[in-house]
Amino acid sequence: MTEYYFMNGEYTEAGKAVIPVRTHAFMYGTSVFEGIRAYWNDEDKQLYAFRAPEHYERIQKSARIMHMESPYTTEEYCEITKKLLKKNNYKEDAYLRPTLYKKTQRVGPGLQDNEDGFLIIANKMGHYIDVPEGLKVCVSSWRRNSDNAIPPRAKVAGGYANAALIKADAHYAGYDDAIVLDEQGYVTEGSAMNLFLIQDGKLITTTKTDNILVGVTRNTVIEIARDILGIETEERQVSRTELYISDEAFYCGTGAQILPVTSIDNRKTGSGKIGEITKELQKIYFDVVRGKVPKYKKWCLGV
Ligand SMILES: Cc1ncc(COP(=O)(O)O)c(C=O)c1O
Repeated sequence: MTEYYFMNGEYTEAGKAVIPVRTHAFMYGTSVFEGIRAYWNDEDKQLYAFRAPEHYERIQKSARIMHMESPYTTEEYCEITKKLLKKNNYKEDAYLRPTLYKKTQRVGPGLQDNEDGFLIIANKMGHYIDVPEGLKVCVSSWRRNSDNAIPPRAKVAGGYANAALIKADAHYAGYDDAIVLDEQGYVTEGSAMNLFLIQDGKLITTTKTDNILVGVTRNTVIEIARDILGIETEERQVSRTELYISDEAFYCGTGAQILPVTSIDNRKTGSGKIGEITKELQKIYFDVVRGKVPKYKKWCLGV
């Protein structure tokens, strides 16, 4: 079946959505993007895009940092998203990658006098990393790019060279992923997902100013933990050795969803098995994203 993308104002067959090789974003990594999941609910026979407005709010913030003009409002982005998903007629989970990019074909890194383009890539997608026994991760020898270098708060393609090095070296060292420290040695997040620790029944995660991408899923976890499980989240700076003494740990992100971590730097996290609170949150999360929890149906954009 033909798959469609949205590119520069039109719904285009995937194979025809191409960019010239001299496109600025391709040469310099000057695009900002989002990852949005759409979940199929088989009982409702309905596809739901999860927290689409929040992702489009964030792309507009990334755009401001990168001297880009957003071509649409949040409501318009959501309408385009619905139409694109409808056109693709997905009856299973899918993934969207909206991208705002510098499209002028010229040499030189400047963002000024540089036209903006917008596209959305769409594809079917199941789990991103599927490790049923939990992830074995290490602390990366790479540091997270700082707010004064390539701001992690902005989801800029060029910044993902950092994630690529972290991910690749973790893989070659035999780990599933790596946790990244900042230049001061404090914990930030995983290669491309946020991190939560659980100590004494409480959730702990790094703050919005700790050189992380401020995740939509991070916010979802904080809300469902508080409202459904009655567990508060402490947002604060996290030291490296806290990684080794926590009772549970998990990653979260649109792609990652909720991924339990069961060992860090060859030290078991808690018992070394997936923790009970992590399991509960994972279960609730999958119900929430499929529109099965009435309180959070507001986060599910019906297509
Ligand atoms: C660096 C980084 N941190 C965190 C996240 C999680 O963000 P979100 O939950 O909004 O997908 C992502 C995923 O997109 C990411 O790339």
